[in-house]
Amino acid sequence: MDKIQTQKLRLGVNIDHVATIRNARGGLHPDPVEAARLAARAGADGITAHLREDRRHISDRDIERLMQDIDLPLNLEMAATGEMLAIALRHRPHACCLVPEKREELTTEGGLDVASGHNHLKPFVRELVAAGIRVSMFIDPEPAQADAARSIGAQVVEFHTGTWCEAVIEGDQALVKAELARLSRAVSHAAGLGLEVHAGHGLSYDSVKPVAAMAEIVELNIGHFLVGEAIFCGLEASIRQMRALMDEARAQQTATAGAPG
Ligand code: PXP
Repeated sequence: MDKIQTQKLRLGVNIDHVATIRNARGGLHPDPVEAARLAARAGADGITAHLREDRRHISDRDIERLMQDIDLPLNLEMAATGEMLAIALRHRPHACCLVPEKREELTTEGGLDVASGHNHLKPFVRELVAAGIRVSMFIDPEPAQADAARSIGAQVVEFHTGTWCEAVIEGDQALVKAELARLSRAVSHAAGLGLEVHAGHGLSYDSVKPVAAMAEIVELNIGHFLVGEAIFCGLEASIRQMRALMDEARAQQTATAGAPG
């Protein structure tokens, strides 16, 4: 059987919104580092945290503690700014995912426009890669964005699944089909370029399986839904359930790919 079909799909648990709840009262509880420990026990393969310019959730101290106390690889999401580059080079996390950032946005609204911004982004990629950090670009599911990411030396692309998740929530079947096809085309294109392919943003129990079934994707990064669902069933249970749905989708895909045609 070919390698892609048997590859395990990794789950990166994004703990930003544990920090959002903590920061609502300015104290220490709930602790995102404790959430990262629990995520490891629940089957996460990595921890993702976004250190935003305005520090609205994750703090500098959180990043320091995640690097010191957690054995799982850290994927640091950051804007391409001098301040963030210096922080990344000081901590040397396993990976950095470059994301667009606007102060007024509620969340990362779309992917990075690498195709237009490659001159600005290239030196960041070069310095991070030279420091031994895997560099990922958070982009919309467009082949041209993957081409641009590869051309500036990124090893990984993470496709923004926001429009796919919105289509699932709206329940418009034509849109659901179109968004899934758009994502699938971009994933195959990026994998064909030799890029490692990740995906994430907005994924829930309802939207994760068709994405997890795409054999070229090696990692999903999921946060907000898991933390929200934890209110009802606990964080460990929400992560375990997500992990189970991902594994189920991947197993079904593998069985279909291996079945005689
Ligand atoms: N991947 C990236 C690059 C992100 O910026 C985010 C949101 O911080 C996520 C994944 C996770 O998105 P969500 O919290 O909606 O699951």
